[in-house]
Amino acid sequence: MTNMESQVLQAQPENEQTGEPCIVYFSSVSENTHKFIVKTGIDSIRLPLKTSGETPLVHHPYVLCVPSYGRPGGAGSVPPQAVKFLNQPGNRKLLRGVIGAGNTNFGSLFCIAADKIAAKCDVPVLYKFELMGTTEDVENVQEGLKAFWRSNSLYPATL
Ligand SMILES: Cc1cc2nc3c(=O)[nH]c(=O)nc-3n(C[C@H](O)[C@H](O)[C@H](O)COP(=O)(O)O)c2cc1C
Repeated sequence: MTNMESQVLQAQPENEQTGEPCIVYFSSVSENTHKFIVKTGIDSIRLPLKTSGETPLVHHPYVLCVPSYGRPGGAGSVPPQAVKFLNQPGNRKLLRGVIGAGNTNFGSLFCIAADKIAAKCDVPVLYKFELMGTTEDVENVQEGLKAFWRSNSLYPATL
């Protein structure tokens, strides 16, 4: 296991104590999504870069943020790291919504991975943003996620 993967696996969401939203996300070496998540300041867990890396097991509700990586025609757009994470029944059960990252150059396939995960797991797509997101995207996600968390009574104490 690399040092980075080890740090990721040790990262624990703090929402158990604070009742704040938590985002689990994948970001490739280009790190657009990572930069966006850092800008939001929201408590987060990053999935390992390599699919062979040990996937985290979460214990509290979270929102998944995922970029699309499709082949022509849209096949295989969900990163396998996200598939592996969601294939853990406990992780899947605690998923409350999806935020999509992508590039509008892909037209109708913009953020298609988020749409696919949301449909498969029966949760809403909460937001979509392009590349590393604008200042407005950051604010929208900060405010929107707080409201979503409150309105859905997602605080761990109420589970
Ligand atoms: C091979 C490849 C396929 C992609 N496919 C899509 C796609 O189907 N839909 C989309 O919205 N963006 C697509 N993108 C754009 C990425 O989702 C976008 O660059 C994203 O910001 C990458 O996030 P990351 O840097 O955190 O990995 C693709 C990018 C690459 C390199």
